[in-house]
Amino acid sequence: MDPGDLVLRGGRVFTPAGDQAADVRITGGRIVEIGRGLVGSRIIDVKDLWVVPGLIDLHVHLREPGQEYKEDIETGTRAAAAGGFTTICCMPNTRPVNDQRTVTELIVRRAREVGAVRVKPIGAITQGLEGKILADIADMKEGGIVAISDDGRPVMNSGLMRRAFEYARTFDLPVVQHAEDLDLSEGGAMNEGAVATRIGIKGQPACAESAMVARDLEIVEWTGARYHVAHVSTARTVALVRDAKRRGLDVTCEVTPHHLALTDEACSHYDTRTKVMPPLRTAADQEALLEALADGTIDCIATDHAPHSPVEKDVEFECAAPGMLGLETALPLILDFVRMGTLDEKRAIAALTRSPAKAFGLPGGSLAVGAVADICVIDPERPVTINSEGLSSKSKNTPFLGQTLAGRAVLTLLEGRAVFDLDRRMS
Ligand code: DOR
Ligand code: ZN
Repeated sequence: MDPGDLVLRGGRVFTPAGDQAADVRITGGRIVEIGRGLVGSRIIDVKDLWVVPGLIDLHVHLREPGQEYKEDIETGTRAAAAGGFTTICCMPNTRPVNDQRTVTELIVRRAREVGAVRVKPIGAITQGLEGKILADIADMKEGGIVAISDDGRPVMNSGLMRRAFEYARTFDLPVVQHAEDLDLSEGGAMNEGAVATRIGIKGQPACAESAMVARDLEIVEWTGARYHVAHVSTARTVALVRDAKRRGLDVTCEVTPHHLALTDEACSHYDTRTKVMPPLRTAADQEALLEALADGTIDCIATDHAPHSPVEKDVEFECAAPGMLGLETALPLILDFVRMGTLDEKRAIAALTRSPAKAFGLPGGSLAVGAVADICVIDPERPVTINSEGLSSKSKNTPFLGQTLAGRAVLTLLEGRAVFDLDRRMS
């Protein structure tokens, strides 16, 4: 049965041409009209709210299959919808690893059953993420992967990385690097620097990241691949990417909200929820990341949503698993920068929508007549207190617990259907 037309009335609509006060009419799961005074069988008042494309996250750990005690596809995708996301890409470091088509297909099937958001799997570069033998990338592509990565680990072997670039190029797949030279990082649990020295935790130097990116860029230049740097965290990496783009290489990258919002000072109290890989860096790095996001050197904001249970987190800092939640805190954290005037709102929205769509060649990411109605409605002023009862995610490992921020998604539409509806506007 056709539920008829739905009109989002009176919002501030972010289209590729700019933002405007307008109504959006949706029918049959698509945007059919954007303009003033539109009529339809259902009218939803979105006055004072922003109407933006459904957010797209290129970096999520869903933990299914294998570690469902941390997260599963159902809880992870519900957390995504609550955060305003309509498309997420999930990393292959599951158990078993997503290094073959059967695992890819399982993820795709499970995500379809839940139906909360679109899930696009990222396949492993190497079998078992072991960095030794290339995975069956062609077969996984048939199964639906949109990129390849050994995320959680880098590909240390340069010759193997060259083959991965060459192979991925034939399938037009981006290669996503977790840039960390393990010989330089040497298992350091936080950023190497004054804070690590003061609190007596072994650090890993910023050059562990940039050295790997520098190496990769040399190979990208040689092979002509699509290269995407995951969770850029240092000023030096930013400089390398800026230079590579200037030289015309096919390079994109992402930054996480936590690397923008926090520095290594946050680790001073040995709170394992601040332990992430790459680690939180210095204020100078943080400044460089913000500047690079503003000028487009950093293309996208991606969460690196990494759920962990108390088993992995309620231990000594050095022993704790790295990672923090991201899907439900991303928008409030980013809107904070917008409010402070450090980040332009259009750029912030583009980095969460159009840019990630472009980087991985995904559908969606812009509001236009004819487009699928994947939409996020944001209340930029709505207070949000991050607490464990309010999180849809199965895990609670975020250092932002107890904080009140302003601005969040209040309604998320997937093909015109509400998958998150904070105020029950659609029911
Ligand atoms: O902090 C992180 N957590 N960084 C990674 O690269 C992996 C991730 C995870 O899987 O927990
Ligand atoms: Zn990573």
